[in-house]
Amino acid sequence: MKTRGLIDIAEMTTEELDAMMDVALDIVENPAKYAESCKGKKLATLFYEPSTRTRMSFESAMLDLGGSVIGFSDAQSSSVSKGESVADTARTVECFVDVIAMRHPKEGAPLVAQMNVGIPVINAGDGGHNHPTQTLTDLFTIKRELGHLDNLVIGCCGDLKFGRTVHSLVTAMSRYPGVRFVFISPEELRIPEHVRSEVLDAHNIPYVETTSLEDVMPELDILYMTRVQRERFFNEADYLRLRDSYILTPDKLVTAKKEMRILHPLPRVNEISVAVDEDPRAAYFRQVRNGKFIRMALFLKLLGIEVK
Ligand code: NCD
Repeated sequence: MKTRGLIDIAEMTTEELDAMMDVALDIVENPAKYAESCKGKKLATLFYEPSTRTRMSFESAMLDLGGSVIGFSDAQSSSVSKGESVADTARTVECFVDVIAMRHPKEGAPLVAQMNVGIPVINAGDGGHNHPTQTLTDLFTIKRELGHLDNLVIGCCGDLKFGRTVHSLVTAMSRYPGVRFVFISPEELRIPEHVRSEVLDAHNIPYVETTSLEDVMPELDILYMTRVQRERFFNEADYLRLRDSYILTPDKLVTAKKEMRILHPLPRVNEISVAVDEDPRAAYFRQVRNGKFIRMALFLKLLGIEVK
């Protein structure tokens, strides 16, 4: 990997991604083998933004490897409220732990932390930018559900502008042959120009943009639903106008492939009706479970631990 930790999914080679998924699968199948592998190691979770899954997934991953966890989930209870910089907080925490997972509302904050410490820093979501471990989770889920990552039509639906999970997913999936994207969003929430030029156009990846989910449903292998990111809007009226642009209901799935899978990084607000949860194609809670296993594999990689 290029940096000591994981800031952007583009830092990982395809071989590294594939190897990490192999380890994660071995952990699923042989959890006891890994139960003590991080004994004596400590993770700090520094979460400056709300989280349920990501933080608990990181923490469970370290605990299930026999390590321990410290950290904060409310920056106001830390010295951040006194005005401490991300760099100083990271340098302080480095004195106590072996690895840091950081979520921050500002793009680039985990990179700043990484530049100031000698231990691995994992980006657990930075503003509307990137979310590489969600992408590891997404890739591992697609691999487990469909058996392969190449030759897929991936539909990303919802807030493609501010949704950081989509930006990282597109970056990672663009390396697999035969992948094509369908971007479904309101005009105002289209995929950003930097993803278009630096990832899609740069690698000649075919994609189309549409406002209609119904029109494209039959061609999708993956439907990646996202929440409209209220906290990144400048004005509440725009959020209210756009939040219910897409609501996935069982009747909309009638035209979808039998093998299609529905993913969502969660939390959902109301973009997927709960009636869809019963559909075998709904993979989003299995996706949450996969997130812990792939984060376990990531810790082993970043800490240089090999389990025989
Ligand atoms: C996502 C995030 O935080 O970017 N959630 C997650 O990490 N599982 C998606 C979201 O908040 O909508």
